[in-house]
Amino acid sequence: MRWKLVSTYLLLVIILIMVINIFIGQTVLNIYLDEKKIEILTKANTLSNNIKLYLFTDRVLEFDEYFNRYITAYSKNIGSRVIITNKYKVVLADSNNEYIGKVLKHKEIQSSLAGKTDFGVYNFREYGHVLYTSVPVLIDNKTEGVILISDSLNLIYEKTNQISYSLMIISVISIFFIAILAFFFANFLTKPIKKFIEIINRISYNQLNQRVKINTKDEFKIMGNAFNLMISKLNQVDNQRKDFVANVSHELRTPLSSIKLLSQSLIHQNEKDINIYKEFLSDITSEVDRLNNIIDDLLIHVDLDKEKLNLNLKTTSINFILKKIVSRMTVLAVKKNIYLNMIFRNSIEIKVDSNKIQQAIINVIDNAIKYTPQYGKVLVELYEKNNLAVIKVKDNGIGISKDSLEHIFDRFYRVDKSRSRNTGGTGLGLSIAYQIVLLHQGSIEVESKVGEGSTFYVKIPKNLN
Ligand SMILES: Nc1ncnc2c1ncn2[C@@H]1O[C@H](COP(=O)(O)OP(=O)(O)O)[C@@H](O)[C@H]1O
Ligand SMILES: [Mg+2]
Repeated sequence: MRWKLVSTYLLLVIILIMVINIFIGQTVLNIYLDEKKIEILTKANTLSNNIKLYLFTDRVLEFDEYFNRYITAYSKNIGSRVIITNKYKVVLADSNNEYIGKVLKHKEIQSSLAGKTDFGVYNFREYGHVLYTSVPVLIDNKTEGVILISDSLNLIYEKTNQISYSLMIISVISIFFIAILAFFFANFLTKPIKKFIEIINRISYNQLNQRVKINTKDEFKIMGNAFNLMISKLNQVDNQRKDFVANVSHELRTPLSSIKLLSQSLIHQNEKDINIYKEFLSDITSEVDRLNNIIDDLLIHVDLDKEKLNLNLKTTSINFILKKIVSRMTVLAVKKNIYLNMIFRNSIEIKVDSNKIQQAIINVIDNAIKYTPQYGKVLVELYEKNNLAVIKVKDNGIGISKDSLEHIFDRFYRVDKSRSRNTGGTGLGLSIAYQIVLLHQGSIEVESKVGEGSTFYVKIPKNLN
């Protein structure tokens, strides 16, 4: 990762520096060239004025020793080769004495004959870079001849190359230092990642209490916080799982120990009294029932965990469900001489998973009957409030202390373990009810006073989304 960062960064820098170097080189060359063009053009125009009259005479077609000497002297003076042609492109004078009398077909001469000034840059093997500058010689606005000045650009190219060379050296040195800097920078950047890797490795070895500490104030910090939050959640889930397994084992062991104790007593029993056997065996049967209850509730729990997102939602009459439940529970209530009553304030039809909601309500009403002494009262009420269907279950039973209230929805929690054993409770009923109602985006609330009774409110939203 570090090397990738450094090399990508360097590659970008090198490309950028190269582009800048080429651009600077070109610009410098163009500036020099423009300077040179202006300088030569000024000279050409001066010469053009000087030789106007000469070209106006009729001698223009012949070789003129005097004229050629004049041009040669002028050429020496300005340090460039000068060629003069007439309007038929025939060379009248050449400071190098090479083309006199010949016809020249350079494109610059062509365009100057058309009245324009022209330039051309050429690279000859023997001379190097050369600039051609041509201007027309105008007499009464008519082109009578052309001046072609050719000048070496070698000095300019040399200078430009020198500048490029210096730039190159500066660039290489800069890149070297940038590389060193980039390396340290990348080191600095990848440091938090190293930390992450270290912590992730530790977590893989089940050290879920590990947290990353990142002191930078950038995305790494945000990532670190998100990561820590995730690990906390994982840790929490893991602890819940451990607690759950421990609780389940404990809950299963208690009835098993009882069964073992009872059966051992029976084995060592010398009595012939059949009633004692019957009593012990019925105790064993009730312990087995208890085991069954626990396992049934556990299975419901596992199903709820598994099917979290698979609610079988159907528009259902809550009144109808309640009627069914209450008539079923009446048997239990009658056994305990408890007066179980039901009041419908509204008739409510909402989308619910009917089986699951029934299970939840049964658990709440079952508690109300279970934790209310003989001749008590349980009232089930249905009404609508704030777009919620509310099922209120009120009893005048033993009540729940303030401290216990916050735990009653926890798995396996029972306020009074010994009493609850007699009543066959598993401590899972409310936790199941709570989960089911939560799946329906609802809630369960409790009000209770020890000795006076408890009221449970099961609230389910009317429009589940
Ligand atoms: N209506 C109630 N009155 C008094 N205590 C209650 C009532 N409902 C629940 N509780 C207390 O909350 C505990 C948890 O309830 P629940 O999860 O249904 O377990 P259990 O299997 O013991 O009924 C019960 O053991 C009991 O102590
Ligand atoms: Mg219960």
